[in-house]
Amino acid sequence: MSRKTSDPRFPDSYIGLMSNEYNESIWMERNQKKTTSICIQYLYDKKLNDIDHGKTEIEENSLLLDIGCGTGFSSEIISTHGFRVVGVDILKDMLFKAGEKKRLYSEYRKIEFILADINSLPLREMTFDHVLSVSAYNFITHGLLENKKKEKRINTTARYLHKILKPLGRIIIEFYPLDEQELNSYISSFINNGFNGFLIKKHEKQKSGQTFLLVKKQ
Ligand SMILES: C[S@@+](CC[C@H](N)C(=O)[O-])C[C@H]1O[C@@H](n2cnc3c(N)ncnc32)[C@H](O)[C@@H]1O
Repeated sequence: MSRKTSDPRFPDSYIGLMSNEYNESIWMERNQKKTTSICIQYLYDKKLNDIDHGKTEIEENSLLLDIGCGTGFSSEIISTHGFRVVGVDILKDMLFKAGEKKRLYSEYRKIEFILADINSLPLREMTFDHVLSVSAYNFITHGLLENKKKEKRINTTARYLHKILKPLGRIIIEFYPLDEQELNSYISSFINNGFNGFLIKKHEKQKSGQTFLLVKKQ
């Protein structure tokens, strides 16, 4: 996996030898870390404050949840920025690599990793200041074919994230919606479940592809 040549498939692209290849790809590491830094910058976008006057400064020591943390590239950068971070991933092969690096490098020692599906995390209400997800959120509907079931899953996840976030907590997601309709489903899932503002960052006139979605809890 020297660089991305085709769209990754879940879970095939992330198990067994593929998890090794993923973790050792310099291109992947650079790409995930760069995208995560952009997400952190977007997290505090002042434009969301038109709706209310929440915080806009990076609050060091805040607790962030990294959804679909994989082998830990995003969590590592979040931690380097001074946040406390909990990474969650559903695949043990990916998380194993994250754990190896945590043991090896002292600067990553404070990162907590949890092996779990984001839809069934055993976490208390209002635990996290913010949530971040890089190149993973699309996978929450994996295995569901009918649109109705996908919508239901997307809504359940948004409701759950609302529960574990503190008031005014923000979520930044970098993902790849297939089209405008799919992007709108994700936006609606947040608006219908207690989030009161959103921003989209993508190229002008872009209809699909890499998209950043930022939402804020009421
Ligand atoms: C592109 S990879 C990891 C990206 C990550 N930002 C990084 O720095 O390596 C996407 C990850 O999402 C995880 N994933 C997919 N569905 C998930 C779910 N329902 N709950 C938790 N993690 C999930 C996959 O196992 C995979 O490791």
